Amino acid sequence: MFSKKTIRDIDAKGKKVLVRVDFNVPLKDGVVGDDTRIQAALPTIKYLLDQGAALILCSHLGRPKGEVNEKYSMKPVAEHLSKVLGMKVAFATDCIGPAAEAAAKELKAGEVLLLENTRFHAGEEKNDLDMAKQMASLADLFVNDAFGTAHRAHASTEGVTHFLPGVAGFLLEKEIKYLGQVVSDPKKPFVAIMGGAKISDKIGVIKNLLVKADSILIGGGMANTFFKAQGYPVADSLVEDEALETATALLKEAGTKLRLPVDVVLADKFDNEADTKIVMVGPIEDGWRILDIGPETIQSFGKVIEGAETVVWNGPMGVFEMPKFAEGTFGVAKAVAACKGTTIVGGGDSVAAIQQSGLADQITHISTGGGASLEMLEGLELPGVAALQDK
Ligand code: 3PG
Repeated sequence: MFSKKTIRDIDAKGKKVLVRVDFNVPLKDGVVGDDTRIQAALPTIKYLLDQGAALILCSHLGRPKGEVNEKYSMKPVAEHLSKVLGMKVAFATDCIGPAAEAAAKELKAGEVLLLENTRFHAGEEKNDLDMAKQMASLADLFVNDAFGTAHRAHASTEGVTHFLPGVAGFLLEKEIKYLGQVVSDPKKPFVAIMGGAKISDKIGVIKNLLVKADSILIGGGMANTFFKAQGYPVADSLVEDEALETATALLKEAGTKLRLPVDVVLADKFDNEADTKIVMVGPIEDGWRILDIGPETIQSFGKVIEGAETVVWNGPMGVFEMPKFAEGTFGVAKAVAACKGTTIVGGGDSVAAIQQSGLADQITHISTGGGASLEMLEGLELPGVAALQDK
């Protein structure tokens, strides 16, 4: 079902290969924090090295908006990758121009070079073809393994394919296989769990999943907007007033497929030291705010998840960064991990929750994409994938 050529279909021996990875990883004090995305790219990197290719890796990091900003330099990523690979990783201080050209020219088979942040040039996000051409000129082949950025039509994801034959890496292939299966032909019952702050970020996904899924379980801040749309005052809770009409329409369209929390955890302030109480869903008293789903909801969501053949989870159920309001998210994490069907978790916060709960190894597929995984679930074609060669 994956219709694009992959690195298995090319002969990379003795070739310079430009590999777009998503090394947009958290940095703290100049050191890589969570390196999940780097680890996820290793199968492609190692395979191409084994094939005898010379690898020119490129990525963006953060949103430097087309300007050089040391805070977003890829240098610490090169150092981290070097440790992980157990070999030297060369670093070029630019992704195009003389520095990149000299470093790429020197590179030999079996060696790795990481280019500086592609977003230090405004041309990256504009998908400027001149920039793409310059990047492409460094190599003989292009491999896209940056699933997390495949929803962006940028110079280093889409533009380069106008100048070099482009194929998919193993990570991109794996992500599309799992997320594509969910949207095209999920095993039923199919349960989607959606959380996070805003409905507006996920309207397209909810609409698409309403057609495919048997149940959509809603938690997190976005549930508040649904409560308000049902006519319940939500007091100090986070609410998206501009999305109330959409919420009303979705509730009408969804019928019983969309399941909202039946009870919630209230707090008198946005603080882990706040006074809290658990109440059944209804009008919320002034001075209180909803910060998590309640125990009855955890239990009833858990039952639905238990019986599923396919589960997709994106977005936390509450403010899980604060221990007092983490039970909903961790309760759902446990239920997803225990489910015997195919389970897929995407989005930074839900992935972090699964990892913090120590259950990551019990999930079928943890996506490295936030926005990209949502666009897949919305049924959209990702430009970084569409641009690659067909099989
Ligand atoms: C991500 O972290 O979701 C990707 O790296 C894309 O980053 P962006 O949202 O800044 O384009």
